Amino acid sequence: MKRVFLTGASGFVGVYIARALRARGHEVHVLVRPTTDRTRLEGLEVTWHEGDLASPEDVPRAVGVAAQGAESLDVIHSGALISYRTRDAERARRVNVEGTRHVLDACRRHEVRRLVHVSSMVTVGHSSSGRVLDEEAAFNGAELGVHYVTTKRAAEELALAAADELDVVVVNPGAVFGPAPESSNSAWFLQQMARGRVRVVPHGGVAVVGVEDVAEGCLLALERGERGRRYLLCESNLDTLSLVRCVAGIAGVRPARVRVPRPLWSALRRIVALVDRIHPLERATPQAIRMAATCFYSDASRAREELGWTPGPFEDVVREAVEELDGC
Ligand SMILES: NC(=O)c1ccc[n+]([C@@H]2O[C@H](COP(=O)([O-])OP(=O)(O)OC[C@H]3O[C@@H](n4cnc5c(N)ncnc54)[C@H](OP(=O)(O)O)[C@@H]3O)[C@@H](O)[C@H]2O)c1
Repeated sequence: MKRVFLTGASGFVGVYIARALRARGHEVHVLVRPTTDRTRLEGLEVTWHEGDLASPEDVPRAVGVAAQGAESLDVIHSGALISYRTRDAERARRVNVEGTRHVLDACRRHEVRRLVHVSSMVTVGHSSSGRVLDEEAAFNGAELGVHYVTTKRAAEELALAAADELDVVVVNPGAVFGPAPESSNSAWFLQQMARGRVRVVPHGGVAVVGVEDVAEGCLLALERGERGRRYLLCESNLDTLSLVRCVAGIAGVRPARVRVPRPLWSALRRIVALVDRIHPLERATPQAIRMAATCFYSDASRAREELGWTPGPFEDVVREAVEELDGC
């Protein structure tokens, strides 16, 4: 049995990590904010620690308390701000970059055995042509001008740079799907696709993966990952039209037919940017529109070979998530 301190435990992925840790019989300590909705963690035996990732004091204090009386402490850092809203740039820096700095500081101070840093496929790189990237790809994401990408990349760089002094392993999930709370971007997008509301799509694509498989990948990285290494976690790569058709097929709705030509999509983004300046947008923001027309394709061979990670078929993940939506 290990004792594991988990950030982002109330999030879409974090809940599944907490459940997977408990299922393995580990002792789980979670960082939550006073405002955090803890409903999805109800019934799970965890020790609560209150704190904000953006605070330089909160995380070391919480990790210090969690470490007391433990033979050793591991940390999984899943907390982050996933936002494509223009106004969230500074918040994303404070939570994603400074938050990771605070987690690393806490790990150093309290002699944490291993840190698994949950990063993203977006920190690896992208292409417009659908090139499949592996862990060694040269990062080209800064050119997207998307603060989620730049802050997650900066956070991952901090984590990997610390591998000289700390036992750090990084996992980079693709777009995560599964039964999710309505507030999550992923659930919202899935809902739109499953209700047949996505009628046109851009030229773009993503690496996709189920949420339970991501949680399992995090645990395998904790158990078997090589220090200082990153592991891409994805089951398959789908262009957006195929993704929308896959979900529509399973949900039994009319699939999208039209792929918007690139110049038209760029024009749409410029119009949305103008609107966003006057009336700040929540979901279809200029940065979200830029991301949608980009390919983030990953090769997860390393995780499969070195961690023994075996993700389930993506169609099964979609089926389960759609059934959950129908049940709502
Ligand atoms: N979802 C995806 O498709 C995807 C894909 C690739 C990588 N990832 C990465 O996977 C990780 C988990 O993502 P997710 O989908 O679970 O995100 P999520 O559902 O948005 O959850 C984010 C978590 O971070 C916590 N958090 C945010 N700001 C915080 C702060 N200032 N202090 C303390 N906690 C804070 C949230 O707590 P509250 O409940 O209090 O807000 C929540 O528990 C992230 O690192 C993300 O970058 C996600």
